[in-house]
Amino acid sequence: MGGAVLSESGAALTDGAAAPNEPVATLTGSAAAWTESATARTESATASRGPSGSLGRLAFGFLAVSVLSGVALVPFYSPARPAESLEALQGGLPWGFVLRALHAYSSFGLLVVTAGHLAQVLIARTERQLTPSSWWRSVLLLPVTVAALLGGFALRGDAEAGAALAVWRGVVGTLPVLGSELARLLVGTIPNDLGAVTLHHAGTFTLLVWLLTSEHGKRLVPDSRSVVLAGLVSVALAGAIPLPLGSSSGTARVLLGPWYLLGLQGALVDLPAAVAWLAPLLFVVALGLVRHTGERWRRFLVALLGAWVVAYAGFTVRILLISRG
Ligand code: HEM
Repeated sequence: MGGAVLSESGAALTDGAAAPNEPVATLTGSAAAWTESATARTESATASRGPSGSLGRLAFGFLAVSVLSGVALVPFYSPARPAESLEALQGGLPWGFVLRALHAYSSFGLLVVTAGHLAQVLIARTERQLTPSSWWRSVLLLPVTVAALLGGFALRGDAEAGAALAVWRGVVGTLPVLGSELARLLVGTIPNDLGAVTLHHAGTFTLLVWLLTSEHGKRLVPDSRSVVLAGLVSVALAGAIPLPLGSSSGTARVLLGPWYLLGLQGALVDLPAAVAWLAPLLFVVALGLVRHTGERWRRFLVALLGAWVVAYAGFTVRILLISRG
């Protein structure tokens, strides 16, 4: 309890009531009573904010906009004819291009705001507000969100999407023991059919992201302010930055994957395919362990995560330079 408040203020991290130099215990009389009531007020404010803080709530808003706009796309999309579906959406249907862009930008918003929220948690050292199991489930939100995004990218059915799907299948196939079975499960077995990818995109991964988010935020649905704010930001982006359709890199020397995976694509230029799951695994495990370590190891893990992000950005720049020749 007191530990949560201490960590919120950036002081030494303590778990639950196990604070070694609990400030309340050192005070007496009316001062102690005042401190206790102030502590209770801070805790109740923290509880009403939830462990997520403001960015966490906004992330849930983006998820809701992404799901709603995704459902609105369903009548116009066929996994057997992805390219025609998107052409009709983009060119034939009034406001179809806005709907598509709304779905994409709200989904990107979900990833960006989730990453920002994670940085917020690490800087404010609030990870111990979650129980260990809840923390690990929350950490899983990152890879599951990326899997949902990648599924959406594959649904475009253009040259980049086809290449990304082949890489995705190849990388999953390098996982030990169950790799090839898992690749079949995720990507399907029928050539040029996106049925399995569509089901996992709109079903499995979306459901998982929603379940993990609602458990993390301790509410089944987001608050209306976050949904409205996320909706407005997504609509503004959809209007301002048109979402390209088809191969956007006709002059590029390589087909580029989705922007958030360019770092992995850059790494795979020289490194073996297994790096594409080993590197994210390292990130997720290091992040998960942050909740369990003392101050020295925490500093080491946070530095490791920082180095990972810098290397990822470097590989992103590298693949962009390669693509321009
Ligand atoms: C019930 C839930 C969902 C449904 C029914 C759905 C449906 C769809 C459909 C039909 C497409 C293909 C149309 C297009 O490419 O514009 C698509 C694309 C996409 N989806 Fe979803 N989706 C859902 C949830 C999500 C979630 C939770 C995310 C993100 C975490 C997401 C991210 C994307 C992305 C990034 C694209 C590619 C947009 C593009 O570049 O064209 N979707 N989705």
